[in-house]
Amino acid sequence: MEVVIRPNAEAATDLVARVIARELRDNPRLVMGLATGRTMESVYARLVQIHREEGLDFSACHTFNLDEYVGMPGSHRNSYRHYMNHNLFLNVNVDLRNTHLPDGAAADIEAECEHYEKLITQCGGIDLQLLGIGLAGHLGFNEPVSSLRSRTRIKVLSPVTCAQNAPLFEPPDEMPRRAVTMGVGTILDARRCLLLATGEDKAEIVARAIEGPITSMISATALQFHPHCAVVLDEAAASRLQEADYYRWIFENEPQWQAYRDGINGSTLDGHPVKAAPRKKVIAPVLDDA
Ligand code: GLP
Repeated sequence: MEVVIRPNAEAATDLVARVIARELRDNPRLVMGLATGRTMESVYARLVQIHREEGLDFSACHTFNLDEYVGMPGSHRNSYRHYMNHNLFLNVNVDLRNTHLPDGAAADIEAECEHYEKLITQCGGIDLQLLGIGLAGHLGFNEPVSSLRSRTRIKVLSPVTCAQNAPLFEPPDEMPRRAVTMGVGTILDARRCLLLATGEDKAEIVARAIEGPITSMISATALQFHPHCAVVLDEAAASRLQEADYYRWIFENEPQWQAYRDGINGSTLDGHPVKAAPRKKVIAPVLDDA
């Protein structure tokens, strides 16, 4: 794992967007794992800006989102399909047929979970998984005591997560109590993971995720197993880390971060472009809110 600390949320967000842009330029058929939440809104806004100003091309990429609320059709304003369409997909030139989220309103959710895992495999696996972290320490909606080998399935949302996300619903108690989420094992299968956390309210859970013991109580600690994982933080989210100076030292001295230190988008996350995986034809799901 590498920990990158930027002076503020804008700089952290910009770095994440530029890593994604660089990966997409290196491999236009990139399979991206995408996340939702307030933190990601500014990442998507920045990607839309890069698309408009620099012509970043999304036309050949595929996307798989981490999760969706159970019982929520994509046309609902609080669905993650709606979030993705309005924050990113409808503002860039992605082919909507290549954008995938679990269908939270599927009649047979178990079959939907299996289907989602199969689609990811048929697409060649996820090249770059973007992640946020919830106050419960979750990745996606892998709530406390999620198996660290879990695959896509339904999870009941913890009280901490409900308290964090309910204000986004009107009225707040309209928030579903369950979600379909990629499993921790599904996430760890991604070739590369990139987690962004900003703000003081994330400082404690970020410190436990990065420096604490690996535990299913905090699914983000599973990233310590991942061979290519970077965690990008602003100073506020990094403020409880014991070893912040050590992480800064690595960032300052590691050549792969040179372009990002200097503000020039000249290298990939670990200096090696992601190789395009062989693809099979993927049948796109019907979109509720295309
Ligand atoms: C939701 C998503 C998570 C995300 C989290 C962070 O719970 N399921 O994948 O990490 O939001 O939210 P925020 O960025 O609003 O703190």
